[in-house]
Amino acid sequence: MALVDFMKRAYYAAVGPPTTVKKRDDAIRIGLLGASKIAPLAVITPAKSHSEVIVAAVAARDRKRARQYAKKHNIPIVHSTYQDILDDPSIDAVYIALPNSLHYEWALRSVQAGKHVLLEKPSCSNAEEARRLFEHPLVTAPDAPVLLEAFHYQFHPAWQTFLSLVHHLPWGGTVEHVYSQQFLPNGYLDVDDIRFQYALSGGCLMDLATYPLSCVRQVLGRREHLNVVEARHRPLPVAADGSEVEPQIDVEIKATYITDSEKTAKIRGDLLYGGGFSFLPASWSHSLPRFKWPMTEALSGEILVDGQDDGQDDGSSHFVQRKVTLWNHLLPTIYHRIDICDRHFLRRGEELVKTWDEVQYIKAYNWPEGDVRSQTYQEWWTTWRCQLEEFVNRIKGRAGSGVWIDGEESIAQMEAIDETRISNMNSINVMKLEDTAAYQLPFPEWDNLQPITPRLDFDRVKANSTLTFRPKLYSIMPTQPQTFPTAFFLCTEV
Ligand SMILES: NC(=O)c1ccc[n+]([C@@H]2O[C@H](COP(=O)([O-])OP(=O)(O)OC[C@H]3O[C@@H](n4cnc5c(N)ncnc54)[C@H](OP(=O)(O)O)[C@@H]3O)[C@@H](O)[C@H]2O)c1
Repeated sequence: MALVDFMKRAYYAAVGPPTTVKKRDDAIRIGLLGASKIAPLAVITPAKSHSEVIVAAVAARDRKRARQYAKKHNIPIVHSTYQDILDDPSIDAVYIALPNSLHYEWALRSVQAGKHVLLEKPSCSNAEEARRLFEHPLVTAPDAPVLLEAFHYQFHPAWQTFLSLVHHLPWGGTVEHVYSQQFLPNGYLDVDDIRFQYALSGGCLMDLATYPLSCVRQVLGRREHLNVVEARHRPLPVAADGSEVEPQIDVEIKATYITDSEKTAKIRGDLLYGGGFSFLPASWSHSLPRFKWPMTEALSGEILVDGQDDGQDDGSSHFVQRKVTLWNHLLPTIYHRIDICDRHFLRRGEELVKTWDEVQYIKAYNWPEGDVRSQTYQEWWTTWRCQLEEFVNRIKGRAGSGVWIDGEESIAQMEAIDETRISNMNSINVMKLEDTAAYQLPFPEWDNLQPITPRLDFDRVKANSTLTFRPKLYSIMPTQPQTFPTAFFLCTEV
């Protein structure tokens, strides 16, 4: 039976349910900016089972490719440019799955065009862009279009069940340590993938590792600021001739954090995960692809449950420490498991008298029975289908499941990425500098930074080039009012 359920979930998730739903007259018409790889999983298939969503248009840089994509996915309108989608009055909302370096610009353009926006993660190239986007008056206005960073995993009942388990420990206390990991097997991505291009704001921390970072932040709560203790990266391998291809690209990131209240967190992500087969010679097995589950694990502090006065006859004290592990926060619909392990300790003074474990395993393909949300949600809904449900609920002004990612959270996530990146790589993801002549230092208090200006060597900086300086981010704003973009870059601190 479990196998049948598994196959049904996997089939419905990948292909869609066997029956197509009738679309309502007031369905939200979504336009796709880019004929991206992720859209079928993230929007096109989920929309098939949603009566209030129609994927109505697509635009790609190459119109022929857009036409082929539209034909394959039954998308009625093909536009020549992304802007044409924004100018199309029949489109209500857009899905932006462009390279990260284009998220800020196209999200802001979309909001200016009055479209609701489902914006791929990470929301922007850096925190400065994120603040400008999510704090923009057009985004914060009461009747503003909906803008959602697509951290889809958060919308699934498995993640929410895991979170409620770690946030409501039966004996009180809080999580003291959290770890999260995510890997892609070596060879899964093409060598020219957007993730391996620095000018497109690629890299592991900006892509795969945004998940573990987001997961640990969710577990510790948004009030806990993550201070980076250590961050290490593995760069993109050098080319066959020994030259560095994209020296600023990290393919693996490991980072350790401590919060102000001394809770700790660790993350690990790898875009080219391979090797480690002890039974094979390391010299040729290191590049063999390897699989590891996405996983998030939260460990509570030790809690005293029975003291000497009210508990054990032999004068010992009873402590419990809970570890909750979610296996596969990324694709929980296919398979996941939540392990709850309670480690009990009996201690008499300094002496450990006895220890034992109690373990439970939980699955949450839907909200708990009796929860009204379980009547709408289906076991075969993917994280993306759950996300689409809540995106639509928000646009329609309905309460929905209660799960949401607001602008403050998206900004905090980008700040955590920036801080990790600065402490590790002494650089940050930058935007293109469009018109060098039009920029000046914006704030009076930045006067003391004037000496850096000659170092930027504006005369020699070509328009549309990408600049990286170390190690602090400054933003340079256009002197003339213009829509886009502000340039952000790093300068050596003086
Ligand atoms: N939520 C998730 O689970 C998930 C999973 C994967 C990716 N993502 C995110 O989704 C976004 C897209 O990822 P993807 O894997 O779908 O990427 P992709 O298909 O390789 O690229 C997405 C689109 O970017 C456009 N593009 C515009 N300028 C480009 C340039 N200079 N070079 C290359 N492409 C350019 C292309 O549009 P045209 O069609 O116009 O050529 C392409 O269709 C990224 O932000 C990524 O982090 C999210």
